[in-house]
Amino acid sequence: MNILGFETSCDETSASIVKDGKLILSNVVATSLKDHQKFGGIVPEIASRKQLELINMVTKQALKTAKVKLNKIDAIAVTSHPGLVGSLLVGISFARALSYSLNKPLFEIDHIAAHLYANFLKTEKTNRIKTKEPQLPAVGLAVSGGHSTLFYIKNFKNFQIMGQTRDDAAGEAYDKVARILNLGYPGGPIVDRLAQQGQNKEIRFPCANLKDSFDFSFSGIKTSVYYYVKNSKDRESIPIKKVAYSFQESLTSALVKKAISACNKKNTKTLLVGGGVAANSRLRLKLSEEAKQYGINVFFPKLNLCMDNAAMIAGIGYHYSKKKETF
Ligand code: KG4
Ligand code: ZN
Repeated sequence: MNILGFETSCDETSASIVKDGKLILSNVVATSLKDHQKFGGIVPEIASRKQLELINMVTKQALKTAKVKLNKIDAIAVTSHPGLVGSLLVGISFARALSYSLNKPLFEIDHIAAHLYANFLKTEKTNRIKTKEPQLPAVGLAVSGGHSTLFYIKNFKNFQIMGQTRDDAAGEAYDKVARILNLGYPGGPIVDRLAQQGQNKEIRFPCANLKDSFDFSFSGIKTSVYYYVKNSKDRESIPIKKVAYSFQESLTSALVKKAISACNKKNTKTLLVGGGVAANSRLRLKLSEEAKQYGINVFFPKLNLCMDNAAMIAGIGYHYSKKKETF
C-alpha cells in the first residue's frame, strides 16, 4: 500500500511516499530556513508563503523519485496539528484537494506522534541490514522545537501523555540559549557542536526537577545561562564552549532521568525517541548508556528523520488505513 504524506507544520515543505508503513520510496524536504535566519526564528507569514510556492514542486519530485504514478497512490496523510496555522493550512488544503480528486482516503496526523514513528522507517538500503525492530507497548520521548513530551504508546493510534514541559520545549531552550550567546538559528546543532569541546566542572546551570511528576521545566536553565552572560565582565570573557557544555549536560540529564523512570514505571523495555533534539549527540550517547544499565532498548531515528519530514507522516498514516494493527 502506497501512502503519499505531507508535512508543512513549520518551515519545511515535504512530500514522501512510504510503502506499507515502513519502506521510504521517496522523502523530499524543502526548507525556507535561510529566509528566517536574519530574524533569529521562524516568521510564520514567510513560512506559509514559501510553502505555497513549493508544495506542488515537492510533490512532483516525490512521485518521480519513488517512480510511482498518482494513480498508484492508495491514501494520503497530512500533518493536521500541532504547528503554525498558515503553514498547516497549505498542507491540509493541498492534501484535501488531492484526496478529493483522486477519490482516495485522507488521514490527518499528529505531528508529535509521527516524530516517534520515524523509528520504524527503513530505506531500500537499511532494509537489507537486519536490525532490531522496536516493540510496542513503549515509552516515547518526543523532543522538538515546540514540544517535550513523554508518552506511553500502546499502539499507533493510542498515545497517552505521561508528562510534558510546563514552559520551554527542549529545542526551544537550545534556540534561546544560542540567541543569548549570539550563535545563530537554529541553536541546537550549533550548541551541540560547541559543547563537544567545552567539557568542564566549574560552570553549573541547575535544571528544575519536578518531583513525583514526569513533567519537564527548561525555562529556569535558560534563565541561568542568561544571568551568567549578563553578569560577565564583557562578551569576550565568556567561555562559550564551556557554557554550551554545562547547559547541554543539565538539559540532557533531565531528559534521560525522566525517560528512564517513565520506562521503569510502565515496566516497558522499549524507549522511542524522536524530534529535532533526538539528533543531539550527547542525548544519544547518555540515553543509550543509561538504558543499557536497565536492559531497555532505546531507538533513535536516523539523523535526517529526526527533523521534520513527510516520511514519518506517510508511515504512521498506514496504521490509520487499517482497522486492525498489523505490526
Ligand atoms: O522536530 P523539529 O525539526 O521541528 C519541530 O517540530 O519543532 O525540531 C527542531 C528543533 C530546533 O529547536 C533545533 O534547535 C533542535 O530541534 N535541534 C537540536 C539539534 N538539532 C536540531 N537540538 C539539540 N541538538 C541538536 N543536534
Ligand atoms: Zn517536528
